[in-house]
Amino acid sequence: MLDGQRILVAGGAGEVGAGIVRQLLAVGAQVIVPSRSEQRLTELRSLLDPNTHARLHTWVADLGTLEGALAFRAQLERELGQPQHVVASLGGWWQGQPLVDVRLDLWQRLLDNSLTAHFITAKVFLPPLADTAGSSYTLINGGGALNPVPTAGPISISAAGQLMLQRVLAAEHHHQPVRINALVLATPVITRSRPDGPASWLSADDAGRYCVYLASAAASSVRGQTIIFAKAAELPGV
Ligand SMILES: NC(=O)c1ccc[n+]([C@@H]2O[C@H](COP(=O)([O-])OP(=O)(O)OC[C@H]3O[C@@H](n4cnc5c(N)ncnc54)[C@H](OP(=O)(O)O)[C@@H]3O)[C@@H](O)[C@H]2O)c1
Repeated sequence: MLDGQRILVAGGAGEVGAGIVRQLLAVGAQVIVPSRSEQRLTELRSLLDPNTHARLHTWVADLGTLEGALAFRAQLERELGQPQHVVASLGGWWQGQPLVDVRLDLWQRLLDNSLTAHFITAKVFLPPLADTAGSSYTLINGGGALNPVPTAGPISISAAGQLMLQRVLAAEHHHQPVRINALVLATPVITRSRPDGPASWLSADDAGRYCVYLASAAASSVRGQTIIFAKAAELPGV
């Protein structure tokens, strides 16, 4: 379905990212995964079908800094070529104190992880693909973007900001081929470190199957949308 297409999964070594990577590999894509940690990349590889390893391209790179992201883009261009699609599954969970008790350095770090890393990734990787026919850029988000989660304020606030980041990017690229969508996973997600949960919860592989659809020609009219799944049963069989 996505045979030979190059897809960057920013945060692909993460909990949700691993399911996205697995599903993209399953449909023939060349999947590019940067991580700040070689160990996380090795762990990711061990979770995936060895028959797909040749199409998995991993790099130690830091998308949390502009310098790191630019250096990675240059290396990618030299060694593999620019991606035609991006899925950004960046951030992670934190829950601790009521908002007014959150230390300023912690606030800054959580916003850096969940919002600034998205900004940097878009700033560096969106321009090279924006004029490519059939290209797509998908931002993964969580239910905290829609509803306040007490004692997880910085996560909810970053997630809400990320939704607007996607809307601004979509509005600014309205006349260009790239399709920029947000996929909101509004349940806890079944992942490698949380393999069990109610049947209503989405899984990382559910997210991956929907990312396959969003990158495919079948989704050619899906652009500028915020797509919300609050139950696994809502996911279409794509
Ligand atoms: N897990 C869930 O239950 C769940 C539920 C609903 C929605 N979601 C959504 O899924 C997305 C990913 O969450 P996750 O649970 O997979 O998180 P995760 O396992 O913590 O992975 C997050 C990824 O983000 C990257 N990242 C974090 N901070 C960064 C920074 N400062 N600079 C560069 N990269 C950074 C990490 O990269 P490195 O590999 O470099 O460390 C990691 O691969 C989020 O949008 C979240 O809201 C998750």
